Amino acid sequence: MIRSIRARVTLLLMLALLVCVVVFAVGIWIGRKDEAYYRELQRYVESQSELAIRIIMQAEARGPVTVTRDSLVGAQLVPEVASVMEVIPDYLMVLDTAGRAVYVSQKARALPPGDLTSLQESALNSEPGTSARLLTLRSDQIFLAARLENDPTTPIERIVAGSSTNTTEALWLDLLRSMLMLAPIVLVTGGVAAYFIGGVAVRPITTIITELEAITDGRSLHRRLGGADAQGDELARLTSTLNAMIGRLENSFGGLRRFTADASHELKTPLTVLRASIERAMMARRGSNEQMEYLEDALNEVTRMADLVNSLLSLARADEGRFDLVRDVVLLDSMLRDIAETATILGEPNGIAVVMSECEPLTVEGDAPRLRQLLLNLVENAIKYTTVGGTVELSLASENGSAVLTVKDTGMGIAAADLPFIFERFWRADRARSRGSGRGGTGLGLAISQYIAQAHGGTLTAQSRLGRGSTFTLTLPGTVRREQSRPETSPPRVA
Ligand SMILES: Nc1ncnc2c1ncn2[C@@H]1O[C@H](COP(=O)(O)OP(=O)(O)OP(=O)(O)O)[C@@H](O)[C@H]1O
Ligand SMILES: [Mg+2]
Repeated sequence: MIRSIRARVTLLLMLALLVCVVVFAVGIWIGRKDEAYYRELQRYVESQSELAIRIIMQAEARGPVTVTRDSLVGAQLVPEVASVMEVIPDYLMVLDTAGRAVYVSQKARALPPGDLTSLQESALNSEPGTSARLLTLRSDQIFLAARLENDPTTPIERIVAGSSTNTTEALWLDLLRSMLMLAPIVLVTGGVAAYFIGGVAVRPITTIITELEAITDGRSLHRRLGGADAQGDELARLTSTLNAMIGRLENSFGGLRRFTADASHELKTPLTVLRASIERAMMARRGSNEQMEYLEDALNEVTRMADLVNSLLSLARADEGRFDLVRDVVLLDSMLRDIAETATILGEPNGIAVVMSECEPLTVEGDAPRLRQLLLNLVENAIKYTTVGGTVELSLASENGSAVLTVKDTGMGIAAADLPFIFERFWRADRARSRGSGRGGTGLGLAISQYIAQAHGGTLTAQSRLGRGSTFTLTLPGTVRREQSRPETSPPRVA
């Protein structure tokens, strides 16, 4: 199946050209011996015999036209008349009253003996004046016409002219052969022309596709396709229809984003108040143990909801292009050490060891709290999805001017079919199991992490094998290696 329209147009045109050449050739071959052709040939041989008669009549006016030099051979045309007759190129026979040939043209003389005899017999038996007829010899196929010499005083009685039908057939064959030889050239030239024309025709569509791909990457819906006012042709209509569609998409996406941002923003304050109230109630320690447990559950859920609302707000802001970074020099190695400490505490209940395999002294221009949030997300996941007694390995190294941070675990891993979706919002593998096993979550952590990585011009990728563990790799460009050790804390920042 050919996918490109250009290639399809080229092939179809070449096929059409091939069909035309074949139809033309077959037409020529079938029509080579039709009625009109025989009528034409008949007219020709009759005119040849007329010409011969006229030559003889003119010669007779000057004297006898035959002479007998050899009694064995019999009478022959006198040489002067014979040489005039030689101008007639085809088959020609002049017979005397006794039915003997007094002149045989050069072409007839060149016939093989058997064919010459047949021609002579046929000439004798031809009915003069009637229409021409076909005579098939072994070496040729001849169209014959006979004429009578009307003057009874001369020894000449019958003149037979003939023309080979094979000569014209050879002409047709020549024509066919040249057509077949020309066919590949016609096909190649036609193909090149079609490829060029196809390219010109498809180019605007390719431009539209490229522009559309750039617009529909999710963050450029404010842009529109160019060339909408060009010529008012089909492509201009397609462009303006697509532009209208992008406009509607922009409106609905915008509405959705605004709603998420507004709703999360509005929810933030009551949740903070709720959380503070529960904490205050717990601090008073006035209730029974049972009541305290209820309050603790409520606090956990409110904290979870507040985290969710915060994540939603971050993503909504990122969608609106308001994911502003406050850039500063970030000491990646000390940040990773802090994270490792937190990870060790988080992993302790499940006996998960946290090791640091490599930690180069690297700095990068970036937003420290955001990067910390990113690394914490990765480490939390690594601990959360690793079973008892597993290991989480952290590393930081520089590669081609970029800082490469990896978080590797020996946990449950991610199925190959799930891997492409893990950075999508609200996506969680095997939801039911993770909820039951205490591995709750919103499915927003990696989506936010990827936004943070991209906002820093970096990438966040995952490699994983089900049951074997996962490795998350964060690459941040523009890293600098510190020669001397500096204070091991990142510069503080007010969020
Ligand atoms: N290290 C890991 N090992 C195995 N699976 C993982 C790992 N990290 C992420 N996943 C899978 O990817 C899904 C998405 O991760 P993500 O961090 O976005 O969400 P979450 O951890 O479920 O919730 P939260 O928003 O609280 O972080 C997880 O639910 C889990 O199925
Ligand atoms: Mg997570």
